[in-house]
Amino acid sequence: MSNATFDTRALRNAFGAFPTGVTVVTTHDPGGHPIGFTANSFTSVSLDPPLLLVCLAKTSRNFAVMTEATGFAINILSETQKDISNTFARPVEDRFSAVAWNNGPHGAPVFDSVAAWFDCSMEQVIEAGDHVILMGRVQAFADNGLNGLGYAKGSYFTPALAGKAVSAAAEGEVELSAVLERNGTVLLLGDTSLTLPACAMAGGEPTATLQDYLRDLTGLAVSVGFLYSVYESRADNRQHIVYRASAGDGEPAAGRFLPPANLAPEMLANPATTDILRRFAAESSIGDFGVYFGNETAGKVHPVARKA
Ligand SMILES: Cc1cc2nc3c(=O)[nH]c(=O)nc-3n(C[C@H](O)[C@H](O)[C@H](O)COP(=O)(O)O)c2cc1C
Repeated sequence: MSNATFDTRALRNAFGAFPTGVTVVTTHDPGGHPIGFTANSFTSVSLDPPLLLVCLAKTSRNFAVMTEATGFAINILSETQKDISNTFARPVEDRFSAVAWNNGPHGAPVFDSVAAWFDCSMEQVIEAGDHVILMGRVQAFADNGLNGLGYAKGSYFTPALAGKAVSAAAEGEVELSAVLERNGTVLLLGDTSLTLPACAMAGGEPTATLQDYLRDLTGLAVSVGFLYSVYESRADNRQHIVYRASAGDGEPAAGRFLPPANLAPEMLANPATTDILRRFAAESSIGDFGVYFGNETAGKVHPVARKA
């Protein structure tokens, strides 16, 4: 695509191909209350002087407070802090009750157990289309040596999860399954005891094995994405590796696409499936409030209008 009237959704998806970390940007409002929002547009800028930046949407509820603040902190979330990312991306009343935090040396809230934090003075606020760029000068920082949480194509990814999958695969019998999504619904097999589509790992590349299986099963175009969960089931003594995947249009040859939020646990084959679908429904809902989540092929296109 190459002209000035891009499809913004396609452009957003293309931007989303760049894997990033996840941060929470924090400051205090004039009444002294902490405020903060999830952002993956963080970039380091300069070592000398020590500068960094983050982009803030003009639709942010805290736009005025953030742009008039004398400083802000960047909290780089660690891989166990996905829930914090979700909380600070939703219109939750008291986002800070979800996290242990203190004021940093320059005054902005810094979180416990983050991969790193930077407490900054405001260097510059730069106009940039539907966003502004907040450029900060680092006044204090800490590096806790933890792995950062990753984010790409509308999904979180975690380095430790990938490592766990590799060792699970090395350890023996592995079942591969998929949260195969389309327009906010997930493909489930069975009538009364619903399961995610799953196949045995038959050597080779797990994503290719799973992709072939899902295509044969459904007859649909399928694209396998990031790892979603790795667990060992006591029920069958097997390692399970779950990926996210998206399906194209058409009637599936097997199974049904169902909205995960409406499924009662008794309709599902086991507690692991219940947990996975519950988590998927919760994470999908944050897309309603940000332009940073979801992609068209996955059918996870959410309105941004509700943000205002
Ligand atoms: C992973 C992720 C990254 C995000 N990155 C940004 C960002 O860089 N800038 C931004 O303005 N919003 C970003 N958002 C959306 C905001 O977190 C979201 O709109 C939030 O509700 C804004 O809160 P506020 O309106 O209270 O400021 C992101 C959301 C997620 C889930």
